[in-house]
Amino acid sequence: MERTLNPAVAHMDESLIREMTRVAEECGAVNLAQGFPDYPTPEAVLDAARAALREGRNGYTRTWGDPALRSALARHLREFWGLAYDAEEECVITCGASEAIMATLLSLLAPGEAIVVPEPIYENYLPASRLARAEVRLLELDPFTGRWDPTALDEALTGAKVLVLNTPANPTGKVWRLEELETLAELLRRHDCLLVTDETYAFITRPGQRHVPPATVGDLRGRTVTIGSFSKTYAVTGWRVGFACAPRPLMEGIRRAHDFFTICAPAPFQAALVEALKLPESYYTDMAASYRRRCDLLRAGLAETGFITGDPDGSYFLLLDVSSLGIEDDRTWSVAFAKERGVAGVAGSAFLLRGMPREDGRAPDRRGTFLRLSFGSSEARIAEAIRRLKGA
Ligand SMILES: Cc1ncc(COP(=O)(O)O)c(C=O)c1O
Repeated sequence: MERTLNPAVAHMDESLIREMTRVAEECGAVNLAQGFPDYPTPEAVLDAARAALREGRNGYTRTWGDPALRSALARHLREFWGLAYDAEEECVITCGASEAIMATLLSLLAPGEAIVVPEPIYENYLPASRLARAEVRLLELDPFTGRWDPTALDEALTGAKVLVLNTPANPTGKVWRLEELETLAELLRRHDCLLVTDETYAFITRPGQRHVPPATVGDLRGRTVTIGSFSKTYAVTGWRVGFACAPRPLMEGIRRAHDFFTICAPAPFQAALVEALKLPESYYTDMAASYRRRCDLLRAGLAETGFITGDPDGSYFLLLDVSSLGIEDDRTWSVAFAKERGVAGVAGSAFLLRGMPREDGRAPDRRGTFLRLSFGSSEARIAEAIRRLKGA
């Protein structure tokens, strides 16, 4: 059967995140594996969705996205982040950031071209790169401090076409700082390399720690595709709406790929999200503060159980340091942890190239150093997870 599949698909694992959700359901563990936001979707946005459905806005929208949403998005990006994109020419509304990532990488990368991916990796970049038959090169980040080596990046970028960056990052919680992005801009300019940034968690940062969109730094805008999502910001992960913005020559290819992937994102939800983009600044600051409270609660509880954790600046993921446990196969270990301790997280090797299925058939290396826990869950759920970890 494998011979009939594209090797890029034959060597894809089922997403471990979704697998751990199933494990949590089966064994009754608190699910801190999947990062869905346990946060109320604003009433005004829900009302707008109901109205859109009632008004019969159920057909395809323009392929590039509902013009009202694109123009609201361009205004929002300008007002919040100082990003200047033209709604007509430089934006596309996609089925989530997931589709934007696929459409972007498949439209930019030809077989054999190289893409540089910081590791730990958010799980979607690798399947997209493999489907494009691109050569994947890694830039190692320290999962807990986010430190990286500019010389190693310089080397990795030699002859590469694309660097993909995720800020704030899943799973590390790293928020790339302005000085780091300036170093990056210089390296990308020197290597004439494109940048694809995934800013799905732009609004989920530690209070006082502001996200810096890479396209606002130096001359990066001209070589950058900015990808974002409505999923987490407005707690609508199931609506499947995200976006990509880029200068016209890059956008043309992304729009073409998007057209043939999905035609358009769901019409009534695009209409409703115009309302979301009218929410006041306090919505975003309240949300960020709420996630930080959950992060502090989880960190404090874990500290009482003796676990060492990271201290993320953004996203809603916390890494548990399990490097001292000598774990040989962290996937098996994380399933046992969910069953025995009653809390499901995601094994760190799911975010490392060495832990993923290999096309040469060799066994993946799943020696475990960290477990990813999500604090997107409610405070009650986090408190229950801590209670179980304490064995109470
Ligand atoms: C870094 C990152 N990018 C993209 C996505 C997918 O977002 P969307 O729901 O918009 O497809 C996720 C979801 O977990 C994510 O963590």
